[in-house]
Amino acid sequence: MNMALNNDQMKFFADFVEEKLGIIYVKDNYYQLEKRLVDIATQLNLASSDELWQKAQGGIFGQMKMLLLDLATNNETSFFRDPGLFKTIEDKILTEPRFSGDNPQPLRIWCCATSTGQEVYTMAIILNAWQRHNPKRTFSFLATDYSQRVLAQAEAGRYSQLEVQRGLPATMLVRFFHNESSGEASASHSPAWMVNDALKKNITFRQQNLLENFGYVGPFDIVMCRNVLIYQNVENKRKIIAELAKKISPDGYFIMGAAESLTGLSDEFELREFDRSVVYQKKASFQ
Ligand SMILES: C[S@@+](CC[C@H](N)C(=O)[O-])C[C@H]1O[C@@H](n2cnc3c(N)ncnc32)[C@H](O)[C@@H]1O
Repeated sequence: MNMALNNDQMKFFADFVEEKLGIIYVKDNYYQLEKRLVDIATQLNLASSDELWQKAQGGIFGQMKMLLLDLATNNETSFFRDPGLFKTIEDKILTEPRFSGDNPQPLRIWCCATSTGQEVYTMAIILNAWQRHNPKRTFSFLATDYSQRVLAQAEAGRYSQLEVQRGLPATMLVRFFHNESSGEASASHSPAWMVNDALKKNITFRQQNLLENFGYVGPFDIVMCRNVLIYQNVENKRKIIAELAKKISPDGYFIMGAAESLTGLSDEFELREFDRSVVYQKKASFQ
């Protein structure tokens, strides 16, 4: 398959991705996007990425749009990614008095770039332990992502051996997952680990582009927004954070990836440092 689009042709696709999703492909990363364009051309039965480009001159819509935006996303994730953060959530945040006792309000958490679901299932494992200490409390998760491809895996809760080996302790694997029976496996589907229904039952999965209106959701006690804003320009980061802040309840938490920070992006949150990680808490003046 031909892999030789010129910079102008690549810019045409990169601009479309940036306009719709905010994800920026700089020239140095065009080679990553082009590999994805080759995949899309194959899926659309086109002979080359050049033929894809020619077809795209008539407009990018329908299946081409769906494939282009979906495959332009980077979906890297793993169970207990940044383990110190999850320890902080478990030991410092969920032990706060308002999250304990018999408050009838459910604890509400939004994973707004959940990818293939490892993040939300990690949180569900932690909340499962929390609920054992707080048997009268309930919780619910909203797990969203733009990519329907990764959401389908998240909702199925189906992981390869390699995926569960990345971060999931064996004791938790045995407790919260079951092995897909060989009857369910097929030539295209090797046997895998399936999340137990008990862990899934409090999670709602939904497609959501963070650049589009999400006024219908919330409020949440915790919003996890990890490793997604790094792909956005500063203006989009500010806009998304301001919208997410409106969805966080008084004193609620905003949690970013280990290499991310709110510095210069928002003054609505207080930085809270723990020995293992940092999180952001909504300031009283913005409640
Ligand atoms: C690198 S993954 C992060 C997964 C997880 N939060 C973690 O930290 O392990 C980034 C995810 O953000 C999603 N994403 C990118 N741009 C988005 C947008 N504009 N709206 C919603 N999701 C988006 C991608 O589809 C991808 O699954």
